[in-house]
Parts: sequence; C-alpha cells; structure tokens
Amino acid sequence: MKVILIGYMGSGKSSVGKILAGKLEIPFTDLDEEIEEEAGMSIPEIFAGKGAVYFRRLERELVAKRLAGPGSFVMAAGGGTPCYGNTMELIRETPEAVSVYLKTTVPVLSQRLFPEKENRPLLAHLNSENELKEFIGIHLFERSGFYEQASLVVDASVNSPEEIAGTILRKLL
Ligand code: S3P
Repeated sequence: MKVILIGYMGSGKSSVGKILAGKLEIPFTDLDEEIEEEAGMSIPEIFAGKGAVYFRRLERELVAKRLAGPGSFVMAAGGGTPCYGNTMELIRETPEAVSVYLKTTVPVLSQRLFPEKENRPLLAHLNSENELKEFIGIHLFERSGFYEQASLVVDASVNSPEEIAGTILRKLL
C-alpha cells in the first residue's frame, strides 16, 4: 500500500504521516525532504536559485518514481504536489495508492503558518496574519478541486495528529 497524504501547508501531513507509518509498520517518507536531497539544497534555496518551475518538475518526477517503484510507504506530499501537471491523476491511477486529504480550515492554517512562514517560499512575503489569511483563502479555494479528489477526506482541523492517524487507520483497514 502506498499512502499519499495531501493537503495545504500546515495541515499536518508530516506529523500525521510519521504516526500512521508507525501504526501500519511501513516506512515514512517526506517528499519535500526527498526533493531537498535530490537537489542538494533547501526548499527556499531551490525556489530562490532555480525557480518554481524547476521545483515543480523535480517534485513531479520524484513522486512519479515513488509511485512506480516497489514497496509500501506513507508519503507526506508537499502542499502543491497534487495541483500541478497530471500528478493527481497519476496518484488516482496507481492501483496500490490511497490518497488522503487532510482537510483544514483557513483560520486554523493561518494561525499555524504565521509563525513559520519564513520557511515557506510561497508565504514568506505576507506581512500580517490577516494578509496570510486572505492569501490562504484564495489559494485553498484554487487547490481544493485537486485535494477533494483524494480517496479519503479527513477533518484535520481540531484533532491531534495521533487521533487523525487513528481515524485514517480505521478507514484504511
Ligand atoms: C508548497 C508546500 C511545501 C513545499 C513548497 C511548496 C506548496 O510543502 O513543497 O514550499 O506549494 O504548497 P509543505 O506542504 O510540506 O509545507
């Protein structure tokens, strides 16, 4: 089984993914970390030095390679992974893949992301929490059509990562 966690930045993909992988006893992988390793640079460095198109190409290439490769895993995708090219289609058409959308509200996301926006190239330019909230509102609206195509949709706004991982586990088994 290849479990792909998708959802906006700050929706908890990595923290839920690690716990879920532990419960399923399969490896956990973080796509952003795989991209950083492949490029030999951090995500902000890739965006600044190579540009967004380079990042999206590498992101798509690595997720496609993982989907086509052997073995089970839980992957925390990046927030934009399913939203470019035909990546969501690719995930949906991979027989062993189960995609899970960690659905979160705009106020929860802006509260979580404001203190750490500097590490996120798409958010770093936003100056106040209100500006961030407005940006996320529009961005999430644009991306929801991709996220909602997931095999499972889980509310990830209020519960702890442990509880969310438990909910996903019950739906998977
Ligand atoms: C992005 C989300 C980030 C990272 C990059 C772009 C996006 O991943 O891939 O900064 O387009 O939403 P996280 O969702 O893990 O923060």
